Amino acid sequence: MSKVTVLDLARRKNDGQKLVVLTAYDYATARVVDAAGVDAILVGDSLGMVVQGHDSTLPVSMDDMVYHTRCVARAKPNACIVTDLPFGTFQRGAGAALDASIRAVQEGGAEAVKIEGAGPRCEAIEAVTRADIPVWGHLGLTPQSVHAFGGYRVQGKDARSAGKLLAAAQEVEQVGASMLVLEAIPHDLAAEITASVSIPTIGIGAGPHCDGQVLVFHDVLGWFDDFTPKFVRRYAQGGQELTAALRRFADDVRAGKFPDLEHSYGTTRRGPRKARGH
Ligand code: KIV
Repeated sequence: MSKVTVLDLARRKNDGQKLVVLTAYDYATARVVDAAGVDAILVGDSLGMVVQGHDSTLPVSMDDMVYHTRCVARAKPNACIVTDLPFGTFQRGAGAALDASIRAVQEGGAEAVKIEGAGPRCEAIEAVTRADIPVWGHLGLTPQSVHAFGGYRVQGKDARSAGKLLAAAQEVEQVGASMLVLEAIPHDLAAEITASVSIPTIGIGAGPHCDGQVLVFHDVLGWFDDFTPKFVRRYAQGGQELTAALRRFADDVRAGKFPDLEHSYGTTRRGPRKARGH
């Protein structure tokens, strides 16, 4: 397998292949996610919740994103590495978005960045694209706008807001985005948006009609149970399985069954040392 670029992602859409994206925030996770053959790894600001334990993505800083992107990049994945621009970057305008994106690429090793929203965010998307950094757009329930939305609510349910999202998707494509994440919107709206743009759409809680799907690694593996959104299908009971394995380890240590000689170093000395003077 060779390195997947944003151009490959567009080609795969045109070939009718569904695109698979998962989050990863560190080296070991990036290794297993890449070995599963995903098309892209998203270093998402969801790390604020699943790694840092915050109750939103808002406290995540650009330093955090650079650090985690660098950890993922060291795994040298074939998958394309996409990094979220966190809250407080592109909201300050195109210059701040460009500075943050350059850091993501130069210090982190990102191959694309993701920017939430349209309208006032389009200047930022355009500026970053013009600097030859591929941009993924993100529309629908954009978590950095949680306060403006009055909570984590499905977006685009009525005709007016659906129309706005459709227009926003076209606007995001026009200013240069090469991919578009659609989060928590009705499936028929996601289908309409997917048909109306030429860039690949990646759904999360947006039904089966997008060009691909992204989920958070910890959600797929059942490793994060503070809450489970309706759109998550768990492919393992990771949290429970890990706790059970760690309990077996603790039991073995307490029972003197681990470490045993098999997991201990030997010596080159011959025979036991005799105590002198007896
Ligand atoms: O931060 C993230 O993981 C995301 C996905 C949920 C799309 O933005």
